[in-house]
Amino acid sequence: MACFTMLLLQLLISLLLISLSHGDQCPLHLDPRRAVVRYGGSVAVTCNTSDAHKGMGWEASEGGVPMTKKQNLITWRVINLTEWDINPYCYINLNYKIGDNSQCEVKLPVTVYKTPDSVSISTVNHTEPMKEGQQYELQCDVHDVAPVQYLTVKWYKNQTLLNQTTFSDTDKTPVNKTVTLLIRPDRADDGAQYWCEAELDLGAEGPQPHPKNSSKPLSITVYFAPIIQFCRDWSPFTETSLDSYPLNVYSVEGNPRPNISWRHKSSPFNSSIPLTRFDSGLYEIIARNDLNNVSCFINIIVEYPPELNCNKSYEVKEKTLFKLPCKADGLPKPEYFLYKNGKIIQHDFYPNWNDSGLYQLTAHNQHGTSNSTFTINILHAPIIQFCRDWSPLTETSLDSYPLNLYSVEGNPRPDISWRHKSSPFNSSIPLTRFDSGLYEIIARNDLNNVSCFMNIMVECK
Ligand SMILES: *[C@@H]1O[C@H](CO)[C@@H](O)[C@H](O)[C@H]1NC(C)=O
Ligand SMILES: *[C@@H]1O[C@H](CO)[C@@H](O)[C@H](O)[C@H]1NC(C)=O
Ligand SMILES: *[C@@H]1O[C@H](CO)[C@@H](O)[C@H](O)[C@H]1NC(C)=O
Ligand SMILES: *[C@@H]1O[C@H](CO)[C@@H](O)[C@H](O)[C@H]1NC(C)=O
Ligand SMILES: *[C@@H]1O[C@H](CO)[C@@H](O)[C@H](O)[C@H]1NC(C)=O
Ligand SMILES: *[C@@H]1O[C@H](CO)[C@@H](O)[C@H](O)[C@H]1NC(C)=O
Ligand SMILES: *[C@@H]1O[C@H](CO)[C@@H](O)[C@H](O)[C@H]1NC(C)=O
Ligand SMILES: *[C@@H]1O[C@H](CO)[C@@H](O)[C@H](O)[C@H]1NC(C)=O
Ligand SMILES: *[C@@H]1O[C@H](CO)[C@@H](O)[C@H](O)[C@H]1NC(C)=O
Ligand SMILES: *[C@@H]1O[C@H](CO)[C@@H](O)[C@H](O)[C@H]1NC(C)=O
Ligand SMILES: *[C@@H]1O[C@H](CO)[C@@H](O)[C@H](O)[C@H]1NC(C)=O
Ligand SMILES: *[C@@H]1O[C@H](CO)[C@@H](O)[C@H](O)[C@H]1NC(C)=O
Repeated sequence: MACFTMLLLQLLISLLLISLSHGDQCPLHLDPRRAVVRYGGSVAVTCNTSDAHKGMGWEASEGGVPMTKKQNLITWRVINLTEWDINPYCYINLNYKIGDNSQCEVKLPVTVYKTPDSVSISTVNHTEPMKEGQQYELQCDVHDVAPVQYLTVKWYKNQTLLNQTTFSDTDKTPVNKTVTLLIRPDRADDGAQYWCEAELDLGAEGPQPHPKNSSKPLSITVYFAPIIQFCRDWSPFTETSLDSYPLNVYSVEGNPRPNISWRHKSSPFNSSIPLTRFDSGLYEIIARNDLNNVSCFINIIVEYPPELNCNKSYEVKEKTLFKLPCKADGLPKPEYFLYKNGKIIQHDFYPNWNDSGLYQLTAHNQHGTSNSTFTINILHAPIIQFCRDWSPLTETSLDSYPLNLYSVEGNPRPDISWRHKSSPFNSSIPLTRFDSGLYEIIARNDLNNVSCFMNIMVECK
């Protein structure tokens, strides 16, 4: 009796040890431990044991494996899984357990997924274009996706991730999801492409890389008020119109493209009319679009070529400064070149008495050259270079005094008069023998008079 009790005790102890060695765990090994299956896809999960058993099997609404005693490894297999909520488990009837306790089971978690039928993006209650600084709502519609708890909807602007949304719903069947994004676009976003993406992250057992489905990009147009980055003064050539004002100089931005208009002296100025030299002044450039007007002021200086308008001739006294007699008012201020006989000379100069003659003046700036030819007449006092004694015959008058015997210069041509014995002597009276003596010849013009003395010996015929 004591012996039997000992035996029973030993059996109990050994059973206890066995169950202890397994803990509460069922001695079944599932591979993989978790199944992720595409809806309509196939799945195979093995269940094995190293323990002796009275039978094991798979219980499932599809692909179940009837209890078998012979095998230690059985496979749950479905070729076309079309059940969203399937809960298979593997069971075993253990040898060393008796009664209800002899069966244990291991559940296989199964995730059935489906990528969305469509992912689309749209604007909520708005037709394009958008305006800078205002708030808009974008909407992403993800159709027919499961299971939503593994879904992430991501928003992108071009390649930049903006926001993402996950879901805590526990639905196993496909659902439609709508996610919105609030945006406040600025001018830099004009032309930007927004898109959304549905990503299923089904864990380590799930497909890698994660299935992703993207919407088509939504290009947005952003309207913004004009800005004039900077505007610079301008010096166009005459005949140029304001339409030629270089764009890179005023750099106007705006969407829609701003209209440019101009004002001058408080009035609109037609920008296609060629500018004249008289149109220089302060201008206002105005950029206008549907959103706003902006303007800025510009000094415009109209440049033009020089134009000389000289008289045919000029007079100047010798040794007095000759300044340019005619100026050309070209812009930029022209340079002047004065030529005499093809040689360039200083254009402000002190002429000598013998510098009279033809001169050419050239005025030049970057827009053109103007030439003018004129004479300069140098006024100078009389000069008597030499005077010689003379021996005329009687009946000759002083008017016949030969020019080769004296030389008078002067501009204007000097008047000649004579003096004899301290009195004026009429040069047209015929001389007699008694008129011999010392004579003074006087050359006079507006500027001065000069004289010189000579002996005149009247000889008989
Ligand atoms: C059977 O299960 C054990 C763990 O219990 C495991 O180590 C072994 O690899 C499995 N054999 C097969 C063929 O799956
Ligand atoms: C899978 O099962 C569904 C529903 O029974 C059926 O409509 C579909 O054609 C099957 N697909 C394949 C590939 O057999
Ligand atoms: C969109 O506009 C309609 C009517 O114009 C309005 O009933 C609806 O609430 C608006 N929806 C949103 C999201 O603003
Ligand atoms: C999802 O949207 C589609 C199309 O609008 C519709 O046919 C379907 O019934 C929707 N599904 C659910 C679960 O609401
Ligand atoms: C970004 O997503 C979170 C969570 O979905 C949401 O609460 C938040 O409003 C979103 N931000 C914008 C700018 O839409
Ligand atoms: C976004 O991409 C579009 C087209 O590739 C490009 O024109 C635009 O400048 C980009 N916008 C931003 C904000 O990066
Ligand atoms: C969604 O993406 C998966 C792979 O990521 C692809 O097989 C499937 O055809 C896509 N669905 C649609 C509607 O484009
Ligand atoms: C501006 O001038 C051009 C050419 O002279 C003319 O065709 C046009 O009609 C004018 N525009 C206005 C608004 O006066
Ligand atoms: C810009 O100019 C065009 C043609 O002159 C005109 O039709 C349009 O209304 C103008 N737009 C604005 C915003 O002034
Ligand atoms: C733009 O200019 C026009 C005329 O010059 C004026 O009537 C209008 O009020 C201005 N618009 C804005 C937004 O300043
Ligand atoms: C040209 O001569 C006239 C008189 O003959 C004079 O009034 C005018 O000032 C002169 N012009 C120039 C450019 O010298
Ligand atoms: C003006 O004179 C310069 C130098 O003599 C000559 O080169 C040029 O061709 C002339 N220009 C005109 C417009 O007469």
